[in-house]
Amino acid sequence: MPELSPDDAKRLAAGKALELVIPGMRLGLGTGTTAAHFVALLGERVAKGLDVICVPSSERTRTLASLYSIPLTSIDASPELDLTVDGADEFDPNLRLIKGGGGALLREKIVAMASKRMIVITDSSKSVAVLGKFPLPVEVNVFGLEVTKRMILAAARASGCDGEIRLRKTPGGQAFVSDNGHYIVDCFLGAIADPDRLADRLAAIPGVVEHGLFIGIAKAVISAGPAGIEIFGQLD
Ligand code: 5RP
Repeated sequence: MPELSPDDAKRLAAGKALELVIPGMRLGLGTGTTAAHFVALLGERVAKGLDVICVPSSERTRTLASLYSIPLTSIDASPELDLTVDGADEFDPNLRLIKGGGGALLREKIVAMASKRMIVITDSSKSVAVLGKFPLPVEVNVFGLEVTKRMILAAARASGCDGEIRLRKTPGGQAFVSDNGHYIVDCFLGAIADPDRLADRLAAIPGVVEHGLFIGIAKAVISAGPAGIEIFGQLD
């Protein structure tokens, strides 16, 4: 196979996921560069007459999907979806994910969990034995930020990991604000020995709106790399 760039790999994975789409489906659309490939390919099919209705997981994806004239609805108007296709920052052998690098984790999790199937598309660099090299994004309430950061650190330590919790900033140095009006903190933990325990502890913190650990949500990961396409889990 000729040299495959990470972007080519993302598009390849997106193309494989597109094979799962059938007319009449209600789709959840993920966020990020890999999900953007899926939106673009889906847009080409919609232009040729494919009938689908989609819920975007971010304002960015809404704008992109609108450019392709993909029919959109809201999660409230369509609370049951057939399939969500989204990217990930990391996935492990148990199909546990870190998501939220693009700051859309809350809507992404709501949309994924409203779906019968969530299929993840990635380039092969996202595959890890242990989650946590990628800083774990956590969406937090603006009120009580310092208290919440301390509680997140305590939760990490109680779950067997440690590190630094940083408020996400925009390139201009302002606090990054999510589509939902919240802050994001990135947890530089290095390795998350027990993601399930950490997820439970984070979910119990009042200032945590949602965390970027997706556990038991993805049905399969389509990973593309120099060796071609690999499927982890079940696509159907
Ligand atoms: C956005 C996400 C993305 O899926 C994740 O960051 C991967 O992004 P990309 O496809 O650009 O590598 O969780 O919140």
